[in-house]
Amino acid sequence: MRTIWLAADGRSVEIIDQTRLPHELAIATLATVEDAARAIQTMQVRGAPLIGVTAAYGLALSLHNDASDAAIERAAAFLLKQRPTAVNLGWALATMRVALRDIPHERRITVAYQTAAQMADDDVETCRNIGAHGLALIEDVARRKPAGQAVNILTHCNAGWLACVDWGTATSPIYQAHDKGIPVHVWVDETRPRNQGAALTAFELGAHGVPHTIVVDNAGGHLMQNGKVDLVIVGTDRVTSNGDVANKIGTYLKALAARDTDVPFYVALPHSTIDWSLDDGMKIEIEERATDEVLRMQGRLDDGRIVSVEIAAPGSPAGNPAFDVTPARLVSGLITERGVAPATDEGLAALYPERAKRA
Ligand code: MRU
Repeated sequence: MRTIWLAADGRSVEIIDQTRLPHELAIATLATVEDAARAIQTMQVRGAPLIGVTAAYGLALSLHNDASDAAIERAAAFLLKQRPTAVNLGWALATMRVALRDIPHERRITVAYQTAAQMADDDVETCRNIGAHGLALIEDVARRKPAGQAVNILTHCNAGWLACVDWGTATSPIYQAHDKGIPVHVWVDETRPRNQGAALTAFELGAHGVPHTIVVDNAGGHLMQNGKVDLVIVGTDRVTSNGDVANKIGTYLKALAARDTDVPFYVALPHSTIDWSLDDGMKIEIEERATDEVLRMQGRLDDGRIVSVEIAAPGSPAGNPAFDVTPARLVSGLITERGVAPATDEGLAALYPERAKRA
């Protein structure tokens, strides 16, 4: 199953509503650009690559109202402001604008849908290739372990197929290793405040039959100290040209613990997550989300109702930075669809010479 697809009417777009998971596999319909923007903002869709593809379809939906240059710019600006950190959003909208630039107005809707669909297909292929390169890293660890012992991988947030169109970034090597018969076990950080690990990564791994254990976010350091983690693989929302990595809040602490305990720390990403315009991760805009995400939690009652409850001292203020930046020096390597690169200017430029030269 993919996370996003064109509906049977050939016009609207359907998505898995990730706010209902893991309790319910609900499908939502996006009929307008406003629906697409809301889906991105409320995290019915989330994860950098999927945000990009949803924005591309959102732009296609907007053309039904007005396919003029000015309207395209307005719709793109509207979609862009929904989530500031994941650079795939800006990349997808820029790709759409270039694709539509010289197209006569009457053909723009057709070309927009084709471009969005191609982007979705490309994402699947890209993530599959990320998995093939990451698989080699897992195989290498497996070879050095006693036969039959599982390779223990820790991941943070959800960088799985739900965050992309299929396969995932960080999970693609894990799925490919599991499918090849290599024993793997995944430590799944629950990932407060929205619990993408406990709700989404665990849901995915469970459905695929991959052994895994949900742990609280603060358990990673302890597990690494005690030799229970062979490698960390996380996804990312933006990588700057020097290899700094923005990812879900808490990733930096995992990287620090990994460095202290000599556990390799890898970041998996598609080309669309590299921000060639920035050479320093500290310049990345970090999304500050609603404090309710910290002060409340959503869950399912025994009677099946899904409810949101208060969990904090009434009246206490909260802060909710959604991402942090892991400096390149803490990253063992960047797993891309073109291979594994050192997290450096030179490493990324060697893999993407055509992009690095233009920046
Ligand atoms: O806020 P989210 O759920 O969109 O954040 C997602 C993450 O941080 C993922 O780990 C990241 O986007 C990588 S997606 C392949």
